[in-house]
Amino acid sequence: MSNYHIKHFEEYFQVYRKSVNNPESFWEEIAEEHFVWRKKWNNVLRWDFQKPEIKWFEGAQLNITENCLDRHLHTRGDKTAILFEPNDPNEPAEHITYKQLYDRVCKFANVLHDKGISKGDRVCIYLPMIPELAVAVLACARIGAIHSVVFAGFSSTALSTRINDCDAKMVICADGSYRGSKTIDLKGIVDEALKDCPGVESVLVAKRINSDIAMKEGRDEWLQPLLDEAYREYSAVIMDAEDPLFILYTSGSTGMPKGMLHTIGGYMVYTAYTFKNVFQYKEEDVYWCTADIGWITGHSYIVYGPLCNGATTVMFEGVPSYPDFGRFWEIVDKHKVNQFYTAPTAIRALAKHGTELIEKYDLSSLKVLGSVGEPINEEAWHWYNDNVGKKKSPIVDTWWQTETGGIMITPIPFSTPTKPTYATLPFIGIQPALMDENGQEIKGNQVDGRLCIKFPWPSMARTIWGNHQRYKDTYFSAFENMYFTGDGALRDEVGYYRITGRVDDVIIVSGHNLGTAPIEDAINEHNAVAESAIVGFPHDVKGNALYGFITLKDVGETRQHDNVRKEINQLITDRIGPIAKLDKIQFTSGLPKTRSGKIMRRILRKIASHETENLGDTSTLLNPEVVQEIMDNVK
Ligand code: WT7
Repeated sequence: MSNYHIKHFEEYFQVYRKSVNNPESFWEEIAEEHFVWRKKWNNVLRWDFQKPEIKWFEGAQLNITENCLDRHLHTRGDKTAILFEPNDPNEPAEHITYKQLYDRVCKFANVLHDKGISKGDRVCIYLPMIPELAVAVLACARIGAIHSVVFAGFSSTALSTRINDCDAKMVICADGSYRGSKTIDLKGIVDEALKDCPGVESVLVAKRINSDIAMKEGRDEWLQPLLDEAYREYSAVIMDAEDPLFILYTSGSTGMPKGMLHTIGGYMVYTAYTFKNVFQYKEEDVYWCTADIGWITGHSYIVYGPLCNGATTVMFEGVPSYPDFGRFWEIVDKHKVNQFYTAPTAIRALAKHGTELIEKYDLSSLKVLGSVGEPINEEAWHWYNDNVGKKKSPIVDTWWQTETGGIMITPIPFSTPTKPTYATLPFIGIQPALMDENGQEIKGNQVDGRLCIKFPWPSMARTIWGNHQRYKDTYFSAFENMYFTGDGALRDEVGYYRITGRVDDVIIVSGHNLGTAPIEDAINEHNAVAESAIVGFPHDVKGNALYGFITLKDVGETRQHDNVRKEINQLITDRIGPIAKLDKIQFTSGLPKTRSGKIMRRILRKIASHETENLGDTSTLLNPEVVQEIMDNVK
């Protein structure tokens, strides 16, 4: 029996038991047999959740790109590594072989080196889903620079905040991007952001839309001519297993986005191992994850996990609705995709358009379907199962987080019997616990509580960049000796987990993690606004949408409400991005508050979701009368 590839349900239980009874020897064997190291570790694991400090494979040396690229050159050199499908269906797809990807990464690494980037430097990558994005990520890893990819849908303010937080020296961007029928002026956004980023020394610009853009002398350079000149070998910089690989920002319930820091060795082992098993990837398969590399899903399951396994991974530049809502199925058919991994919000958006567009295409290549990013509701699950998978492709509902680096709770397809809306069982090595509000673990089945993880796993984030205290406070302080996920979950009669959603002020909109605080900050910048509170409410496509309760300084001022609404959404777009726009805005004379002045979002959440039968006792509020006013005017 190979512990690396689990093929049936009993095997899952056997391997799972090994992995929790003896985690060190278990992970040691996986790491030793399936990866290329330059030097072996001294310790498999050292950990302390109090500090918190987590070290996997300490003392080992490696370069993750030797695992993603070099080691495949002899056996899979001519196999497609990245299959690029452009936004425009009439533009030919590009098949980049492992050899070609290796050359492109080495050349890019030489360019970074020549531009003065070295081990430990931070490089911000703000690129659309074009091959240069994956190449730039790997080139950073090859020279030991820490990449920080910022999703190219974020605004200039969001970009500059992230650049400054990690002190990036360089930005890699494109002139612009295609998204469906639109083009986006990415370089303009970068220029705007860099007005506030004195630490950025150079900007490399990939050409994608051939727009006429301004290049700042001494700072900006076109990427392609530099690559054309670059040497095609770059010997990988040897890194320690616990050296940083990347920083990726995720929203918190308060304050600045958190720069989650992932380190090389453990992240590599866990993402590769989960990829192999959760998607049951076989050598000839074509795998497609529709996420953007700007999110953790793309880092782990478009780039690192698949490439470590020598897989063919599709990179799609466009959107599911262009040129029509059949685009995903057209791509599945065209490239004979075997594993398809997407988000519930996409499934719901496609389901709205019926099944005609599915029937036009041959989806018989599909073997495994994945879902990630938010709970998948029953209706969407069945639509996906019936129409896309034709009831023969298991759905893997994968629960995990930016912080966890890799998939944590998931079925293993063809092994774990699936159950709609349940992420089912912990993956190998993962020890979940449900906790009650008094900090006690809730044992047994048919219970619900706050989802924690009791024991370290290799790909967990090691810290928040520049703020270890916040890392400790956010994840290791709510419950003693546990990692707290921020999610609630229930465990059914057979021990399957169902994630019930966030228990903090993070709202998942279309699978994107949004903190309420930065959105409220943006709203409060409007000079007519006194105060605001954002809550999520159920939305049939996005999962949740945002509802803003806003009080204006001049309460009597009602004439201009529509303008104020528009201006508020514009401010949000400018500060964060269009993702965070409010679907509903209700002006109110006050916000319900506790006597200590804390806004009662719980009440607002219920009102916004039309669940007002059970508001609880509001009489102890500072201003109980506003609750009635808000209910009378609710949209
Ligand atoms: C939050 C993490 C992991 C990549 C995408 C999101 C929610 C994620 C599921 C799922 C129910 C899910 C959780 C989690 N979530 N996957 N399968 N079922 N909820 O990463 O932006 O860090 O968000 O997304 O609430 O905490 P992220």
